Amino acid sequence: MDQRIGVGTSVLLWLDNRRKWLVEVAEDKEFHTHKGIVQLGELVGKQFGDKVVTSRGNTMYLLRPSLCDRLAFFERPTQILYPKDIGLLLLRLGLESGMNVVEAGTGSGVVTAAIANTVKPQGHVYSYDINLEFIRKAEQNLAKTGLLQYVTLRCSDAREGFTEFDVDAVFLDLGDPWSVVPQAHSCLKGGSNLASFSPTLNQVEKTVAALRREGFVDIETCELFLRNMRIEEGRSRPESRMISHTGYLTFARKVRREVAKTGNAAAHCNKESRV
Ligand SMILES: C[S@@+](CC[C@H](N)C(=O)[O-])C[C@H]1O[C@@H](n2cnc3c(N)ncnc32)[C@H](O)[C@@H]1O
Repeated sequence: MDQRIGVGTSVLLWLDNRRKWLVEVAEDKEFHTHKGIVQLGELVGKQFGDKVVTSRGNTMYLLRPSLCDRLAFFERPTQILYPKDIGLLLLRLGLESGMNVVEAGTGSGVVTAAIANTVKPQGHVYSYDINLEFIRKAEQNLAKTGLLQYVTLRCSDAREGFTEFDVDAVFLDLGDPWSVVPQAHSCLKGGSNLASFSPTLNQVEKTVAALRREGFVDIETCELFLRNMRIEEGRSRPESRMISHTGYLTFARKVRREVAKTGNAAAHCNKESRV
């Protein structure tokens, strides 16, 4: 694979752990930072892992942007999920290349992008949002990552139902996920995974009640904490600041309605955690 950087290549300019920028290389463009100007044309022909020196003599390294880097630079008209939550979400939804997924709501498209990146190239994400402005912003964000082709954005109220049937997974991130649980049940394949993200436990209680009513099983709720470490020889310790709360993830699996009526589906809720 040719490692050379060319016009149009996305590059992560890394100064230090707190200061990094995502740029698109162009022949006659300057990139201004408080540490000096980078002539982006100078990057053409270099390799990832090389360096560039700014007009003020500061060194920046040319790194290959990961999806995680790109998500950090998404425009965010809405609250988004953080990488710590997205990581577990992708695994617990059981996502693989080739799967079809329904999501509500799209928001800034951060989770949409992460799911699309996992199910591409044969799989697809059908993402619903009630707000056209958010859909347009998500569309721009997804286009920048090259993932838009794996996504269909639908401006529609998820409470009115989904057009898709027999999908492999459903993800809900909206204010009242409990209102959409029956619709999610209808569009999911039997035995498949649903996940929901909510910032408050009041929302989680209502969502879990709806999941039990609908006959989902294997229902679990968790919250994740991520604590960064400051590593300095002889005095390494946790960073003083952390994001203490983002939200709760709830996971569940679909049992067919006729089966749920006769079984003890609800009894399987949160008996033990596998996380
Ligand atoms: C917190 S944002 C989702 C953020 C997204 N997960 C991300 O990481 O970028 C919640 C979204 O749900 C949408 N929404 C709320 N109620 C909805 C409904 N009934 N149907 C579809 N979308 C809805 C809102 O417009 C908003 O964009």
